[in-house]
Amino acid sequence: MMTELTVFACGTGRAIEGPITAETAIRAALAPLGVRFERWPTRPLAEGASPEDVFVAYAAEIGRLKREGGYQSADVVRLTPQAPDLEALRAKFLDEHAHAEDEVRFFVEGSGAFYLRTEEKVFQLVCVAGDLISVPAGQRHWFDMGARPHFAAVRLFTNPDGWVARFTGDPIARRIPLYERAA
Ligand SMILES: [Fe+2]
Repeated sequence: MMTELTVFACGTGRAIEGPITAETAIRAALAPLGVRFERWPTRPLAEGASPEDVFVAYAAEIGRLKREGGYQSADVVRLTPQAPDLEALRAKFLDEHAHAEDEVRFFVEGSGAFYLRTEEKVFQLVCVAGDLISVPAGQRHWFDMGARPHFAAVRLFTNPDGWVARFTGDPIARRIPLYERAA
């Protein structure tokens, strides 16, 4: 599985561009949104590695991100098909929302899809291990981990207490294809 970007029209929900797989092309397509995207070399990591293992393996990358972005803390989020209440969790991530600060994710295992929305278009970015995405504050987005999720990602926060979702109430995510390829 590889990183890919597909662009959908908000109005019809149809794909109008992509899939784009080249890192430079993905970065160029997302640049107007202020989205940061980078592919970093992956480090050896045991399947199901603990957060501590992840922090050790990616200490240099996480340290650099914290310094660059002024992020105060980091944690590791992991979801597998064995997790409880998957349907409710998936539905919550699927509602369009924005945050008052950046949403920074570095994928270390598995995959998941970010959806970034402008007036006319929705950018679906399927992220895999080694992908860094930073969604700027205020950018409308949602996330789909699929019906059988499998991913682990480092999350970086400026202020974990203030990191809350402001849901827009717009049902647009229902018009755009879901992510179904996880696991
Ligand atoms: Fe979010």
